[in-house]
Amino acid sequence: MQHTELEKKILTISSEMSAQQIIWRRYLHQYPEISNNEFETTKYLANELKKLSIKTKKLKLPTGLTAEIKGKYPGPIVAVRTDIDALPILEQTNLVFQSKNKGCMHACGHDMHMAVVLGTAAVLQKMKDELHGSVRFLFQPSEEMPPGGARPMIEEGVLQNVQMIFGLHVDPHLKTGKIGLRDGVSMASVTDFDLIVYGKSGHAARPHNTVDAIVTAAEVIESLQKIVSREIDPIDSVVITFGKISGGYARNVICDRVHIVGTIRTLSTKASKDVPKKVKRIAQAICKAHGAKVEMFIKGEYPVLVNDFSTNEILQKNYISLFGKNKIEQTAQVLGGEDFACYLEHVKGAMFRLGVKNKKIEADKPWHSPKFIADEEALYFGTSLISASVIDSLGKLSR
Ligand code: NI
Repeated sequence: MQHTELEKKILTISSEMSAQQIIWRRYLHQYPEISNNEFETTKYLANELKKLSIKTKKLKLPTGLTAEIKGKYPGPIVAVRTDIDALPILEQTNLVFQSKNKGCMHACGHDMHMAVVLGTAAVLQKMKDELHGSVRFLFQPSEEMPPGGARPMIEEGVLQNVQMIFGLHVDPHLKTGKIGLRDGVSMASVTDFDLIVYGKSGHAARPHNTVDAIVTAAEVIESLQKIVSREIDPIDSVVITFGKISGGYARNVICDRVHIVGTIRTLSTKASKDVPKKVKRIAQAICKAHGAKVEMFIKGEYPVLVNDFSTNEILQKNYISLFGKNKIEQTAQVLGGEDFACYLEHVKGAMFRLGVKNKKIEADKPWHSPKFIADEEALYFGTSLISASVIDSLGKLSR
């Protein structure tokens, strides 16, 4: 392929970084930490950035950090975000660098994201002279657990003067060397909520003197599914899932309290606002009909993720000129959520998918699987792409 001098430089430095990126990635993989507990991860990242002579800044949040590289020329700021948290999963791979924090695993590839973004920081630090502005790196805690780390970071001002933001997520369904892009709505809104149904306890054989919270809760759960089938435009995708339900004391005691844990996913902002209200209305009405009471608690909300067309254009153009055509796939819409969406409410940007699928090394298991493996060859592709896109976007935005 014909590459410009700038592209050659990006590809060369990125490829020189690969060995170091594998070291970073493997270390992070060995010491995963769950959401909001990324203390050692934060220290490690700060230390590695310091070694690269990159300025870091602590957050008011207990974990996570930002880093910034000032370019040679004045100009705007673009941001690059990585999440840093892992999942409470017991790893079942045979990797030599398996998790040493038992019961905790980077099963969503956030270790890869960190290695890509650290590598990008290293590349751009060496290419400061090409930057018309600055690049800010956001190492964000708690992506996996709504309300998530994005919102509090935004409140702290991490997006101040930022004009464009890039994010990435590894994709085990996409072959290494490929990336996925999608304009507009790409991922769902998330509303995590709890319902608590209160009844009146009593003897199992005397239901007429009680209010059975289990029977009432059963009716609530079943009726709430009718929101999707009967109250939402069938073109508009909505999911209501209850992942956990608990309550009761013994076989012969009527239960007076049932705790239901649910999540709502939607692909439209309208539905994300409407569905929680409908849940409350129906739950209250059913409980009232049976003499029970209900409380609803919203535990966390992520908005719909809307990728910006012009940001995707920069990613696409740069990926094609670095690695050629036929390496880009259109990502399908999914009802999964991602708090990168919060940044996109304030500044234009896009999250791309980085292919990490490689059957030969069993890197083809889905996200959150205890056997999840990501192909490290992908680090190079992600790093070159973000480095090139940052330089390109700063050039465009500063014009
Ligand atoms: Ni993830």
